[in-house]
Amino acid sequence: MKNQYQYDVLIIGAGAAGLSLALSLAKHARVAVLAKSDLKEGSTLYAQGGISAVLDEKDTFDSHISDTIAAGAGICDENAVQFTVKNAKQAIDWLIENGVNFTTKKQPDGTTQYHLTKEGGHSHRRVIHSADTTGQAIEESLEKQARKNPNIELYENHNVVDLITSKKVGLGNNHCLGAYVLDRNQNKVVVFRSRFTVLATGGASKVYLYTSNPDVSTGDGVAIAWRAGCRVANMEFIQFHPTCLYHPNAKSFLISEAVRGEGGKLLLPDGSPFMHRFDSRGELAPRDIVARAIDHEMKRLGVDHLLLDISYKSSEFIIEHFPNIYERSKSFGYDMTKEPLPVVPAAHYTCGGVMTDLNGCTDIAALYAIGETAYTGLHGANRMASNSLLECIVFAFAAAKDIVEKLDSSTMPNELPHWDESRVTDSDEEVVVAHNWDELRRFMWDYVGIVRTDKRLQRAKRRVEMLQSEIMEYYSNFRVSSDLLELRNLVQVAELIINSAISRKESRGLHFTLDYPKKDDVNFSKNTILEPPLYK
Ligand code: FAD
Ligand code: SIN
Repeated sequence: MKNQYQYDVLIIGAGAAGLSLALSLAKHARVAVLAKSDLKEGSTLYAQGGISAVLDEKDTFDSHISDTIAAGAGICDENAVQFTVKNAKQAIDWLIENGVNFTTKKQPDGTTQYHLTKEGGHSHRRVIHSADTTGQAIEESLEKQARKNPNIELYENHNVVDLITSKKVGLGNNHCLGAYVLDRNQNKVVVFRSRFTVLATGGASKVYLYTSNPDVSTGDGVAIAWRAGCRVANMEFIQFHPTCLYHPNAKSFLISEAVRGEGGKLLLPDGSPFMHRFDSRGELAPRDIVARAIDHEMKRLGVDHLLLDISYKSSEFIIEHFPNIYERSKSFGYDMTKEPLPVVPAAHYTCGGVMTDLNGCTDIAALYAIGETAYTGLHGANRMASNSLLECIVFAFAAAKDIVEKLDSSTMPNELPHWDESRVTDSDEEVVVAHNWDELRRFMWDYVGIVRTDKRLQRAKRRVEMLQSEIMEYYSNFRVSSDLLELRNLVQVAELIINSAISRKESRGLHFTLDYPKKDDVNFSKNTILEPPLYK
């Protein structure tokens, strides 16, 4: 049985970011792509609304840039925004070349054009989509291309434990050499050596009890990079999507913002609209505002959900635009062509992450981070809808270009130390992991959610510290399992979110605290940057 593998580039993650990078590199390098469960499983597969890009001739770069910066509440990095917006068309063309079928519409003049929808914060129709299953169209097309590429090897059920860095193995300056990986098929930890390693592990929304994200979104990339010595930025900015289906079995199934973009109205239980009381843009205000308004009204009225109504539009229109949402909500007993849907907010997107430059380079040489796990500066304090898939692809291209330029001068690491299991045994109490997992997600929801206070954050901090030490003890004594690895990462990410939130003594974008309800541009118009013990 093999336990050391060697590739030019090790890509951890097989979502939009990881697969776009693999396909962009495959002409130049041998690439391994790891996914910790099934290859397709990740947020990309579930993306609904679409990808934003300036495609309409009446739209402009300046408009996309200023909408993104406005949604980001003043702390986007303007260079990152410009870079992303200006490369969006190339990203869309590449997806089309790779087989993604975006929805088209016949125009009055008889021509056919891509249909562009609208979402919160966008002042123009600029979201290209594949009905309401854009992510599935992207993931499946890219997977198909990757599976037939001889230079790409795909490893499913391979869960990265930690990076191997020169600092950790006593070889001087911090340089990434590869990773320890739990091969879940064989239940053993193997070594992947590489010239370059890329974290494309998605977000961390599973740290909250209610989330639109799949189970794999446990913030592994952020926790892994942090432990290896990378700075992490803006973790307090967790985006709560305003509208997930309220049903005990729906697992926070998302009702796309495009439903509001195409005219859906948010209503109180008595049928009255309320968004105009919170923002002149109504239902299409940026997400932080809409989610907070819903949370406020739910608490004020003591109700467990509000309503989203598009039933005044024709059934044909609704089913044509939202076939998946229509079918899924019908399977839970709601017919959106005839009645409003019950909706609640849920954790959706991690705006902060591993700090990178415009090439995806992190603080550690030969280590990159792309996609939702990265903080590039694009989103600031609040991501604008449909800018995320775009960021995945634009930064995958940039990282690929940078890696290709450096390939010739790079070196393949020599054989690396094997994973040491000599001092651990099999766990005798798996219940500890399950219990801590539940406890963590519940107190994060209650104390570090849409509306925060100093007292709630301090309460969460005390609990997270206790869990940290319990989990670390468990990790040191027992053989690793996938659940334990995820819990260890979740608790690390929770700590980073709490510490970042405590340090921001103002309200901005997605971070809202009753103790400091106003924006404070004098002291806080900047990123929250945390430095790990191994940094520098
Ligand atoms: P993901 O697609 O989440 O992939 C992560 C990959 O990393 C997976 O393959 C996983 O197995 C792997 N991984 C994680 N940890 C490890 C580990 N330790 N070891 C090995 N592998 C690991 N954005 C938009 O722009 N437009 C939309 O319409 C949109 N709709 C959305 C709808 C939903 C329901 C959700 C949840 C998100 C939506 N988003 C949307 C956000 C967007 O989908 C994500 O931000 C984006 O897909 C993230 O892509 P990614 O490649 O970074 O990560
Ligand atoms: C949605 O379709 O509402 C999700 C879009 C996004 O998260 O960007």
